[in-house]
Amino acid sequence: MKRPVILCVDDEHFILTVLKHQLQFQFESDCQIETAESGEEALELVEQLLQNKIEIPLVISDQIMPGIKGDKLLTKIHAIAPNTLKILLTGQADADAVGNAVNNGNLYRYITKPWERADLNLTVKQALHSYFQGKQLAQFYANLEKQVAERTRELHEKNQVLAKLNQQKNEFLGIAAHDLKNPLSAISGYAEMIKMDFDEIPPEEMLEIVDKISISSRQMFELVKNLLDVNVIESGQMNLSLSIIDILPILQELVKHYRERAKAKNIQLQFQCLEKQYHALADKNSVQQVFDNLISNAVKYSPHDKSIYVHLSQDDNFVRCEIQDEGLGLSDEDKQKLFGQFTRLTPKPTGGEHSTGLGLFIVKKLIESQQGKVWCESQLGQGATFIIQLPVAKI
Ligand SMILES: Nc1ncnc2c1ncn2[C@@H]1O[C@H](COP(=O)(O)OP(=O)(O)OP(=O)(O)O)[C@@H](O)[C@H]1O
Ligand SMILES: [Mg+2]
Repeated sequence: MKRPVILCVDDEHFILTVLKHQLQFQFESDCQIETAESGEEALELVEQLLQNKIEIPLVISDQIMPGIKGDKLLTKIHAIAPNTLKILLTGQADADAVGNAVNNGNLYRYITKPWERADLNLTVKQALHSYFQGKQLAQFYANLEKQVAERTRELHEKNQVLAKLNQQKNEFLGIAAHDLKNPLSAISGYAEMIKMDFDEIPPEEMLEIVDKISISSRQMFELVKNLLDVNVIESGQMNLSLSIIDILPILQELVKHYRERAKAKNIQLQFQCLEKQYHALADKNSVQQVFDNLISNAVKYSPHDKSIYVHLSQDDNFVRCEIQDEGLGLSDEDKQKLFGQFTRLTPKPTGGEHSTGLGLFIVKKLIESQQGKVWCESQLGQGATFIIQLPVAKI
């Protein structure tokens, strides 16, 4: 780094030499001492130094000089180097010049000639101290301003994220309330019906109405259960307990359960595996919930008279389960939305089943929080295959 410069200006060569000598002796370790024998030469030098990005903490100038006088020179220097401190050396009491330099050149001090050596040394020392402290302070404020701007930007971004989350929450609540309203108004309608016509309703019809009430309450229960699951997931309070579990009996149980339901649509539910055990490191309850949703979806969205294949396999790293159906399949657009919240896509239940649109969202969160993976391979019109991978448990 180039050393900062103290510039001394005087038309008397002898005075300039004495001044330079004194300052060099005292301040050489901090600054370089430069001299100019006229105001014009001083201005040129200042411009050159500034162009070369050399700092000028201090200019000491004589007042009475041919050409530009000291007070005018300091005023001009102030215009191009406002941070530079200025000292005026006055031969005889020249109050006007000092006043002018104070007002227009931001004069730091004036010293009368002949100066006292100690007085000049102390004044220059204080000037340098003040200049470098001012610079540090300016740097500090600039950093502070930068930090404030940065924090303000971060705060603004966070506010935007919060506003978006708030909007999503409102949408979520809106859909949930809407989905709860339908079964609730059905229940209240049936209750009203029973109250009004209690004596006229034959027992078989009464049973039908009670059945409908029961279906509506089950739908509400399913939705509330899913909403609570989503709430637990979103608030990061999922309480999974990972242990070594065998996936085989879980799947066998579910396949058995859904075979009964599939029968109603004449759907064949086939299960294939080669080995006797499929140990994974996972949370048993959530694995059950995940496969329940995937198999129920396959049955729910498959047309009548089709087949569903559940295939279990494993390698060194993963236990893998594929659930393949012969349903409508999914378009690329639908596939992108598949694991979102309240996604009821183009395929609709083929047997009047209930659909909350939250199942796959929960599946993905549950699987990913136990280092597993879930994805869907499908082409429109060619069925869908949902694949789950869970980390294998090495026993
Ligand atoms: N096997 C599949 N074949 C075709 N479409 C499917 C299949 N599985 C899911 N989908 C589509 O994805 C949507 C979201 O499925 P998801 O399991 O998240 O919700 P749901 O089945 O509608 O309701 P829930 O699982 O909460 O009872 C479904 O509405 C359906 O349109
Ligand atoms: Mg589902």
